[in-house]
Amino acid sequence: MSLPQPMKSARVSAPLHGNALIPGDKSISHRALMLGLLAEGETIISGLLEGEDVLDTAEACRLLGARISGGRDGLWRVHGAGIGNLKEPAKVIDMGNSGTSTRLLAGIIAGHDISAVMTGDNSLVRRPMKRIIEPLGQMGAQFITRDGGRLPMAIRGAGHAAAISYRLPVASAQVKSAILLAGLNAAGVTTVIEDHPTRDHSENMLRHFGAEVLVEKRDDGSEAITLKGGQLLRGCAVDVPADPSSAAFPAVAACLVPGSEIRMDNICVNPRRAGIYETLREMGAALEFVNERVEAGEKVADIVVRGSVLNGIDVPVARVPSMIDEFPVLAVAASCATGITRMTGLAELRVKESDRLKMIADGLAACGVAIEMGEDSLLVHGAGKPPRGGALIETALDHRIAMSFLVLGLVADEPVTVDDGAPIRTSFPNFVDLMNDLGGALEVLEADFPDFTLD
Ligand code: S3P
Repeated sequence: MSLPQPMKSARVSAPLHGNALIPGDKSISHRALMLGLLAEGETIISGLLEGEDVLDTAEACRLLGARISGGRDGLWRVHGAGIGNLKEPAKVIDMGNSGTSTRLLAGIIAGHDISAVMTGDNSLVRRPMKRIIEPLGQMGAQFITRDGGRLPMAIRGAGHAAAISYRLPVASAQVKSAILLAGLNAAGVTTVIEDHPTRDHSENMLRHFGAEVLVEKRDDGSEAITLKGGQLLRGCAVDVPADPSSAAFPAVAACLVPGSEIRMDNICVNPRRAGIYETLREMGAALEFVNERVEAGEKVADIVVRGSVLNGIDVPVARVPSMIDEFPVLAVAASCATGITRMTGLAELRVKESDRLKMIADGLAACGVAIEMGEDSLLVHGAGKPPRGGALIETALDHRIAMSFLVLGLVADEPVTVDDGAPIRTSFPNFVDLMNDLGGALEVLEADFPDFTLD
């Protein structure tokens, strides 16, 4: 576990400019490694996010039997163990900060005749696992957790996993993916029904590895995703596009700093991920997708953003799953916009890396922004100019809270300090350098640790 690393950002005197090289998409990187583990033969991955969450996934896949080498030439090679041939991990799997890898790998383990124990950092051990335990239990896996379905968690995988049909009670791509991944080694057809479309990277990548995944629109507006057990995955080349969730931080910064113009190439703009860009445009952002194309089953584009004048809007609740990770930075944008931005349907934010709804609301209030927080909603009263700032923000091991408030510091009247920027390494290791290369004023501070004196 790393030591807390405070960071500070101060108002920039000049516009942001340049081409920002955004790192690989975290969701797609996790899946590339995991399907590489389950495939026969070699998978070669370019553009993999080399952030801590993904490195933890790579280590977990090694413990489950994949041979993985990577790094120097920018390519990661995964020699798969193959479905049905996973190794029982010889030690506890430490998933660090990553809820996605925990839940997806739990699905993979649940479908195999192996046992494993998973744990994580002080954020991950608070996150709910019942949402995967319920369906994976129906498939035949057994779980022992701490009270409330929390990590550490022991899994006894199903010897002969049963295929199920399961309607998601919460809009969650992680739960959908866990069930589909368990279904790969189940007898029969596994079906997941989702009432609200969530990111479909698992479906896209399963197809890319040669599996047949069917998606059927149903009369009631839901979607049924089906997958037959016993299919073979074949190792292949995966080119990971850049992460739209990471790109959202420089995008909002460029909107807020007058006169800015930045460009970010090769960003994944899968419509189930790109809600933040639609929302920023509706608020008045000068933000364009150029050179739109499809690569390895995913829509990508280059994004150009210019300094903009933003207005508050009501974010449609149906759009929430497509921007579920972007509400912290949207709230920062809203705090500088003119008028009220209403965000509703945000219950899931309470169970992310932190209680994000509370962390955003507390942080904005400390910076002088008028907010109204409900059980699953947030109203931000934008004053049409940047807020006062000048606060020390608590981040609770949440990378996106840290990055959002560092973006706010670039425009606030007084500098904004975050108590711990170390978790930024989980998803966006070069964030500070990248923002400063664009013209930002971010500073990594000396940690101020209390002295220990022994009697
Ligand atoms: C993810 C799905 C989302 C998202 C997370 C990554 C994924 O979680 O918040 O950062 O890769 O499947 P939920 O599906 O649980 O909402």
